[in-house]
Amino acid sequence: MIRKYTFGNPFNTEAVVVKLDEEKTLLPFFEVREKKEFVLRLKDSDVVYGLGEQVRGINKRGWHYTNFNADNPHHHEDTRSLYGSHNFLIISGEETFGVFFDYPGRIEYDIGYKRRDTMVISADSSDMDIYIILPEEGKYKELSIVKQFRRLIGKSYVPPMWAFGFGQSRWGYKTEDDIRQVALEYEKADIPLDSIYMDIDYMDSYKDFTVDKSKFPDLKQLSSDMKDKGIHLVPIIDAGVKIEKGYDVYEEGVAENYFCKDKNGEDFIGAVWPGSVHFPDFLNPLARDWFGGKYKVLTDSGIDGFWNDMNEPAIFYTRDRLNDTLKEMEEVVSENMGIIEFFHFTGMIEDLKGNEGDYTKFYHNVDGKMICHNDVHNIYGMNMTRAANEALNKINPDKRTLFFSRSSYIGAHRFGGIWQGDNKSWWSHILLSMQQLPALNMAGFLFIGCDTGGFGCDTTEDMMMRWVQYSLFTPLFRNHSSDGTRLQELYRFSNVKNLGEMIKIRYSLIPYLYSEFLKAYKNDEMMFKPLSFEFTEDDLAKDIDDQLLLGDSVMIAPIYKQNAHGRYVYLPEPMMLIRMRSVDDFETVNLTKGVHYVKADLNELIFFIRDGKAIPVCKTCKSTSQINPGTIKLMGFKDATYEQYFDDGISSDLSRITVKTIGNNN
Ligand code: GLC
Repeated sequence: MIRKYTFGNPFNTEAVVVKLDEEKTLLPFFEVREKKEFVLRLKDSDVVYGLGEQVRGINKRGWHYTNFNADNPHHHEDTRSLYGSHNFLIISGEETFGVFFDYPGRIEYDIGYKRRDTMVISADSSDMDIYIILPEEGKYKELSIVKQFRRLIGKSYVPPMWAFGFGQSRWGYKTEDDIRQVALEYEKADIPLDSIYMDIDYMDSYKDFTVDKSKFPDLKQLSSDMKDKGIHLVPIIDAGVKIEKGYDVYEEGVAENYFCKDKNGEDFIGAVWPGSVHFPDFLNPLARDWFGGKYKVLTDSGIDGFWNDMNEPAIFYTRDRLNDTLKEMEEVVSENMGIIEFFHFTGMIEDLKGNEGDYTKFYHNVDGKMICHNDVHNIYGMNMTRAANEALNKINPDKRTLFFSRSSYIGAHRFGGIWQGDNKSWWSHILLSMQQLPALNMAGFLFIGCDTGGFGCDTTEDMMMRWVQYSLFTPLFRNHSSDGTRLQELYRFSNVKNLGEMIKIRYSLIPYLYSEFLKAYKNDEMMFKPLSFEFTEDDLAKDIDDQLLLGDSVMIAPIYKQNAHGRYVYLPEPMMLIRMRSVDDFETVNLTKGVHYVKADLNELIFFIRDGKAIPVCKTCKSTSQINPGTIKLMGFKDATYEQYFDDGISSDLSRITVKTIGNNN
């Protein structure tokens, strides 16, 4: 049961697709305080799930989170905001319920931070819709809440099946030759590959929807040559539009008033990769339609996938703030500058990038009304992906296009996937990615994954191996890294052979992963679940936050510690351990319920098949285009059957998804 409570005059975020009448009764569970605060007492045994892309563990108790989308490459334990705002929580305990704060501006979640037994939610304004979701009868309260919530916010985005293949990315491949070289090296190393990503260097001076002809003379030919090898090129699109006379996107945007305005009605200026830019007003449907239409420049060259970036929007600096800062610096720097002044001086430079004050300086045109960006900040990125998705559905109505975005809000899950942003080559970031997966699924995001190997910092051979062993279970499986870090294409490492075996295992698991993805889509369910969502009576399961249930038949327990030769795993029921070195070289061991130390050398992948279950596994291949359903066999418990969801992997018409039960004899 879902109840809607309206406070003040909320902005319509379009997160919700089902119209509900407003309740006239008081908001249950929470005490509503004057200072726009919603307060809930937490019992010792309460567990708080959700918040999507956020730091810390699966149980969110014990920290103060801020949802205000940020271009923040430092994902620390004390980080407050990341790239997305997913304001949905489940409080699980004696009374279990879900709550969604549908609010597009900054919102704070003190979940037992000031006081361990108290949760306080507060926002800049109290103009918001709050949805309370109560579980239906039955044992799986959390799952029942998620299902109802997912119906409220609409169907998740489904990418083409090729997006489940392995992707190689790097900031930055600078020329056509760089791209061809990557494809060649993967071929030589005999490692399957479905996509190569093109970061900002393919553009002419970082101008959206342009291609630098001196470095990529014939994108159409390149894209077609790559397709012949089963490889899709996936270019990046950034939010900011370069200010440059004669550049069509700039000229049209200015002429049609499609850019965000400053308080004087002039086009607002920020600086990002291209230098000075204007930001398209994605909240204006006309601007969305116009910007979305531009993707055709690339689809005409055979491109069928995009990643949208810098759409919080990221602002490196604004001219006004820079000028003010320079003036202040002059005042601070003197012959006998003290140490306090010195730190103030260095802080001023750091404050330029991503300064939240800049978000109060520009406006959107919503139905003819000027709305300050700060008040609707968290839905900007979602509307950029929406622009692309809606336009591509017109340009290419029959086929699915790959989309994923950095910034998001609940609702964006209908238009594309997300990647988890600029992580680092840190062991702890394998765990962080894993802990976000169920919370993202709760919020509707199914096509998700992180920069495998880590984006910032230098990775190592063993870290890459363990990271691959984790990421090979995530729908988006992409190796991506930052300019200036150690090169980390898999063929750079001495254990390339073993890394390749892991990628081949991924390809053999695609029938299972894709089926579980479609199942989660069709039934509004979670693909990745905390153990406690299914083992609801098991107190130990509540504490497990480095293992996840993956679909109906699998539990994953990745290794995320350096030099580990195995790990402790908690089995909430008897399961079958699978330990794989390659598609053909593996063993299975039946384990009892309880805690086990499971050995796994560096080149060994471990995962578990749930009691009485099985998974479909196909013959591995070089790219998803070569997957042969005729080779599918079941792996797991004898006599188990599996309900497989499948389709042709490309049609936009998702009503064609078919379900069939397969057994050991199929
Ligand atoms: C941002 C993106 C990253 C990309 C870089 C250059 O940091 O998050 O993925 O490589 O910009 O475009």
